[in-house]
Amino acid sequence: MINVGIIIGSTRPGRNGEAVARWVHELAAQRGDARFELVDLKDFDLPHLDEVMPAAMGRYEHPHTKVWADMIASFDAYVFVTPEYNRSTSGVLKNAIDFPYAEWNNKAAGFVGYGVDGGTRAVEHLRLVMGELHVADVRAQVALSLSADFEHFSLLRPAAHQEEAVATMLDQVIAWGTAMKAVRADRGRAVGADASCALRAQG
Ligand SMILES: Cc1cc2nc3c(=O)[nH]c(=O)nc-3n(C[C@H](O)[C@H](O)[C@H](O)COP(=O)(O)O)c2cc1C
Repeated sequence: MINVGIIIGSTRPGRNGEAVARWVHELAAQRGDARFELVDLKDFDLPHLDEVMPAAMGRYEHPHTKVWADMIASFDAYVFVTPEYNRSTSGVLKNAIDFPYAEWNNKAAGFVGYGVDGGTRAVEHLRLVMGELHVADVRAQVALSLSADFEHFSLLRPAAHQEEAVATMLDQVIAWGTAMKAVRADRGRAVGADASCALRAQG
């Protein structure tokens, strides 16, 4: 069984993200085909990226980087719960993503976006980032609209069809997260020719 981290992508006081992530976690926990854990960026208190070496070199200097990287390493797949801020994901989530590198590689990811328009543009930006990190991002995603899936834009009341959307996204994350374990086991051959990995290997 794989381990899936559900990452809360907002640390804003009064954030909607926590309720969204807890709802996803509750639905996920009813399944028996993977282990799920909530990962709250608030608990890690990461500064703005303060490592001297690029993450791909794998030379983390600061204890906060190592703690965060160990948390990311402990999962086979991720569900990013992301708000949409100015047509993108949150700065705090992008910053947290930028700290580690190898710990993300050859894993799988799915997305739950929320915002005025369902957070779809935030998810699109995250998909670009996933490519650089060697993360296989699944097609199905959840898009929660502040007007249709929340009361007064702040009380989560997801429409009935959203539970099915979560289930489909998790089906895909678990299938790909399981498959990527084989890729990691064969890591040298699978990604050895990649420039970023070559950089890390030289480091
Ligand atoms: C700085 C900021 C920018 C926002 N920009 C967008 C946007 O471009 N598109 C959108 O659909 N919603 C936008 N929103 C609405 C947020 O997606 C919505 O408030 C959401 O609940 C924020 O997540 P949070 O409550 O977990 O922090 C923005 C909100 C903030 C605070």
